[in-house]
Amino acid sequence: MKMTPALLVIGGLMVFWASVTVAVFLPHATLNDQPSDIWKPMSEPDVAAGHKLYVRNGCSYCHSQYVRVLDWDVGSERIAEKGDYYGYEPAILGTERTGPDLSQEGGEHPDDWQLAHFVNPRITRPVSLMPAWEFLGPTEIRQLNAYVQFLGGKDADVRVARQQRWKPPAIAAWLAGPAKNVEWLHAQVPKVWQAMPNPYPATEPDLLRGQKIYQQECINCHGPVGDGQTVAANYMQPPPLNFTILRGHLVEGKYIGGIFYYQIMNGITGTAMPYFKRDLESEKIWDVSNYLAVRFLGYTDATIEPRGIPASYEPEWKNTFVAPTTQEAK
Ligand code: HEC
Ligand code: HEC
Repeated sequence: MKMTPALLVIGGLMVFWASVTVAVFLPHATLNDQPSDIWKPMSEPDVAAGHKLYVRNGCSYCHSQYVRVLDWDVGSERIAEKGDYYGYEPAILGTERTGPDLSQEGGEHPDDWQLAHFVNPRITRPVSLMPAWEFLGPTEIRQLNAYVQFLGGKDADVRVARQQRWKPPAIAAWLAGPAKNVEWLHAQVPKVWQAMPNPYPATEPDLLRGQKIYQQECINCHGPVGDGQTVAANYMQPPPLNFTILRGHLVEGKYIGGIFYYQIMNGITGTAMPYFKRDLESEKIWDVSNYLAVRFLGYTDATIEPRGIPASYEPEWKNTFVAPTTQEAK
């Protein structure tokens, strides 16, 4: 075939439209289809304003909102569906994960945690490299909070409702004074964990590991001497726990390890106390528990009796599912 000016123009146009199809039409056709089962409209003005702020401030340079099948290990329960982004302009997927994926952020933390974290992420996460957004001012920070609490649609609503359900009793317990507060906190922990001692010995290396974790994850809330007198306390209700009030509140006079483990692993819903089950392996949680006990209570239940309760305790469960017969399986 001979190269003529006309052919050059036609060829150029074909390449152009092929790129437009891939970059514009295909994504449009696959994204704006049907809402998914967790989808919600972005109808609240604060949420919509927060969405704009998210785009304008370049949050997606560090955060994705898109969990793929191959990302199951990032810890998100839900794989993204195209209907999750229905009608959102722009739909924010993101490619960078300097920070965690935020597609299910709603209700992961109560508002007080989020507000403090936006003012300065170091208030809640001592070694965070996320920029501080205090310069945006209280209105825009409130809008960003409304938006991140919205992320996850109807699933987020359930988590947000759970945080709101537990906030008033947590505050009431704190207002009732240290003894009542400890009683309430420990009542949140299942019985089997309450009477479980720390299975790891509180050796010097164990305590040093615990100290390092404390400095990286906990110190800006609970404070260098564990009394909760920190900047974080200005933002949170109830404020971070003063560990020294736990002195004299060991379960049956001797146990504290299992309670620490359970609270650190799961967090305390309704309070700013986050869960660490995605960040710390089991042994690290026991190490930091030993550190809290020795450093702030001057006592540890490490390896006392009863020993041998499996650290991976799960409540007893009877399988009532009946295996399908070969006929049914076909
Ligand atoms: C320079 C990278 C960077 C930018 C820009 C950034 N973040 Fe982050 N973000 C992080 C990192 C790292 C973390 C994890 C540590 C922490 O919690 O601070 C994080 C954590 C978070 C969390 C808490 C997640 C959780 O539940 O643990 C939220 C919510 C969040 N960012 C929202 C935002 C929003 C909204 C913006 C834009 C206004 C933003 N981030 C901009 C890096 C960034
Ligand atoms: C964002 C602030 C924050 C961070 C970070 C934080 N905590 Fe907490 N912590 C709290 C709050 C708030 C409470 C509950 C206070 C209350 O209800 O009176 C709490 C309670 C606890 C309790 C409950 C004690 C009991 O007897 O029931 C333990 C244990 C604990 N924190 C350990 C830790 C450890 C260990 C870390 C770090 C790995 C950590 N916390 C990080 C805020 C925080």
